[in-house]
Amino acid sequence: MSRRPTILAIESSCDETAAAVIQDGHILSNIVASQDIHQRYGGVVPELASRAHQQHIVIVVKAAMDQAGITSDQLDAVACTQGPGLMGPLLVGLSFSKALALAWDIPLITVNHLQAHVLAHFIEEPRPSFPFLCLTVSGGHTQLILVHDYLQMEVIGETQDDAAGEVFDKAAKLMGLPYPGGHLIDRYAKEGNPQAFSFPLADVPDLNFSFSGVKTALLYFLQDALKKDDHFIEKNRADICASFQHTVVQMLVLKVKKAVKQTNVKSIAIAGGVAANSALRDVLNKWAHHEGIQWFAPRMEYCTDNAAMIAMAAHVHYLNGHFATQDVVPEVRQKR
Ligand code: KG4
Ligand code: ZN
Repeated sequence: MSRRPTILAIESSCDETAAAVIQDGHILSNIVASQDIHQRYGGVVPELASRAHQQHIVIVVKAAMDQAGITSDQLDAVACTQGPGLMGPLLVGLSFSKALALAWDIPLITVNHLQAHVLAHFIEEPRPSFPFLCLTVSGGHTQLILVHDYLQMEVIGETQDDAAGEVFDKAAKLMGLPYPGGHLIDRYAKEGNPQAFSFPLADVPDLNFSFSGVKTALLYFLQDALKKDDHFIEKNRADICASFQHTVVQMLVLKVKKAVKQTNVKSIAIAGGVAANSALRDVLNKWAHHEGIQWFAPRMEYCTDNAAMIAMAAHVHYLNGHFATQDVVPEVRQKR
């Protein structure tokens, strides 16, 4: 076993085909191929995602190896996402990684996608110290995680229905914006008044979240408004986006504050695609500063789905001697 391992990592849990190479904990390359085909359908179509992974995977892996300047004989292991995610897409990445491990006679490492989102914080400085609280908010997941150590993580809160990114995307769709519309809501919201309209804050116990209520409230609000004025959305887009975004951000931040109080942590971190949201970053940043709490947000390319975070997790697994066997299968759902 090398103490300074070189690992090729592959991510294929949803609609991004990604590969990265890590050497001794340093990322040498990070390649992502996104799948535009889903825009036409207003959401990820699993069957089409699987096909696109099949088309992209060889090219993406080759690009990652080339960019890193690494050849197969220099690799100590190959790693991939085991789950959670979509079955077809996971099967493509896992089967491909198994084949590479066999062909190159190197160990296989499987990684939990949600652990990897958290470990993205260790790719670059500044790195949080343990324990810290991580809010992971993406198109598929919304979790509050108490991170005790690299691989010791406790989910202390999660969504009971839609994920935060999903609710942004569904709201965007209701307003006639293309998929995925989260970043567009963020962009329009910058010009709008967050107090223009009010939507209900979900009352969910403990540290859990629920976003289906605010989504339905927006639907009924728009239906009513459009009965009176066909052009209501175009005329008020910025205000609707700002007000809706304000409500979702408030729901997230309320639980972060509650979690910090309960756990007494001194550092908070944010991960996942919704970590790009400027209002969420702004509110958390200001609040953390005011409370004297350290605040961490990885670079955007490490927030959205990527293979560098899978590589970082694989590095930790390698040093701990965690390897997978050839009979390993995808895990579509998060293990409880
Ligand atoms: O982590 P990610 O790339 O993929 C998943 O694992 O889902 O997250 C994508 C999600 C999408 O729902 C997208 O709309 C949302 O992140 N998103 C945003 C912003 N940028 C991306 N949501 C709100 N504001 C943004 N600026
Ligand atoms: Zn993700």
